[in-house]
Amino acid sequence: MKPKGSQRPRVLDRKDIRLRINGREYTGNVDVRKTLVDFIREDLALTGTHVGCEHGVCGACTVMLDGRAVRSCLMFAVQAEGVEIMTVEGLGTPEHLHPVQEAFRDHHGLQCGFCTPGFLMTALAFLNETPAPSKDQIREGLAGNLCRCTGYQGIVDAVEDAAGRMKTQTRKRASANAR
Ligand code: FES
Ligand code: FES
Repeated sequence: MKPKGSQRPRVLDRKDIRLRINGREYTGNVDVRKTLVDFIREDLALTGTHVGCEHGVCGACTVMLDGRAVRSCLMFAVQAEGVEIMTVEGLGTPEHLHPVQEAFRDHHGLQCGFCTPGFLMTALAFLNETPAPSKDQIREGLAGNLCRCTGYQGIVDAVEDAAGRMKTQTRKRASANAR
């Protein structure tokens, strides 16, 4: 029995948050235990990020936080305030695909596509750090993402090709800026 007059400590269960995603600001009032992936998908309708295992194993929920690939099922939305978040929706558009997306399309790096958003974000973060990787480095860099369809070879080929495409894109941008 509770001692007379005792009060339960006040537990904060909801919080106003402001997140920056794909260069845009989003606000919301969330349950403090809501994961980042659930907030992105359910509250913001950014459903490109997928949810698979929900415990950090499959990589389907990967997004970029300040340029690093992060599993959004393993963190709370409230923890993502103050960082720059990028989801697959920020990569390219159907008319102007990102080089990584083009390479996945051209090398059949996807079949059902469920794992693809996670692979794209992981590949981009990896290539930003390792711009000219060997095939072994690519395999290692993608080892945390699971695909049940492709057998991985198309994905590895796509990431290798994407490295070259990103280099060309950077070169073109630099020469356009110099004009
Ligand atoms: Fe996050 Fe599988 S859903 S790692
Ligand atoms: Fe189906 Fe990877 S393409 S799980």
